[in-house]
Amino acid sequence: MLGDRPEPDVPAGWTTVTVRAASLNHHDLWSLRGVGLPAERLPMILGCDAAGVDADGREVIVHSVISDPAWLGDETLDPRRSLLSERHAGTFAERVAVPARNLVPKPPELSWEEAACLPTAWLTAYRMLFTRGRVVPGMTVLVQGAGGGVATALIALGRAAGLRVWATSRSEAKRARAVSLGADATFEPGSRLPERVDAVMETVGQATWSHSLKSLKPGGVLVTSGATSGPNPQADLNRVFFLQLSVVGSTMGTRDELGRLVRLCVERGVRPIVERALPMQDAREAFEALAAGDVFGKLVLMR
Ligand SMILES: NC(=O)c1ccc[n+]([C@@H]2O[C@H](COP(=O)([O-])OP(=O)(O)OC[C@H]3O[C@@H](n4cnc5c(N)ncnc54)[C@H](OP(=O)(O)O)[C@@H]3O)[C@@H](O)[C@H]2O)c1
Repeated sequence: MLGDRPEPDVPAGWTTVTVRAASLNHHDLWSLRGVGLPAERLPMILGCDAAGVDADGREVIVHSVISDPAWLGDETLDPRRSLLSERHAGTFAERVAVPARNLVPKPPELSWEEAACLPTAWLTAYRMLFTRGRVVPGMTVLVQGAGGGVATALIALGRAAGLRVWATSRSEAKRARAVSLGADATFEPGSRLPERVDAVMETVGQATWSHSLKSLKPGGVLVTSGATSGPNPQADLNRVFFLQLSVVGSTMGTRDELGRLVRLCVERGVRPIVERALPMQDAREAFEALAAGDVFGKLVLMR
């Protein structure tokens, strides 16, 4: 629903950002379906990601992980953390309030649309590959569900980091686009691969899990950050222990990782894939496209 809300409260240590661009994530669809958003927190402004202008006129990117003010270290490990739009109003608004420590400078090399894609999908992909997956150049990585926001980021970042990137997608057109984005080869979901891979990056869940485990070399690692198609796949424990596979969870990323991701994008010319940028008033159209799976890369709402 579109509507007017009061100006956001600004607690001590927080600041406001005037939003210029905010990207959509699957998280916003989960929230619309009530996942992680109990009735007592409604109405809630959705949106995790934003790039905009802070109260001092600086161009900034908003880190969406809100940790306890007393929390030190990796924000994603704070049991009390939340994402914007879970406990605090989100970014699909003219202004959003955020802790001042959550702001990262937006470099001029990135457009507003591009910058707004980084804090959730791209940061998640960065942490999956480099922090949790610990992949190194020359490894082969399989990305499931190539068209998604996180998946397109995994392909582009994997390419930039010197990995051999293989990807699956249900759609032939998306497989072709994945190749133009930097995938070395693409496959239909569930296909037998030419050889087993060092690591699999999973956001699809139930529909691809079994294929992900079967695709790994002995000692390989599966990094999971999402379960779009369902959270309860066959565990296939025999394969996990006998082949000594690692199944590793990953969630969002730290402010420092966001800073490094921004630098990587600037230095290596990697850019988020913006499928479409729409005026914020057209949010419904953007949500419908995301729900239909009719997207390659990111949808961005502009002000
Ligand atoms: N843990 C975290 O911090 C974190 C952060 C970001 C996202 N996530 C989660 O990661 C998931 C992906 O997020 P996103 O924003 O990238 O979503 P998205 O842009 O909507 O992409 C989802 C992709 O999953 C694939 N897919 C969906 N249903 C499928 C099915 N039944 N079988 C095979 N593939 C299917 C599709 O790829 P193809 O059409 O190419 O096959 C689709 O493009 C979501 O569940 C989200 O909640 C978690």
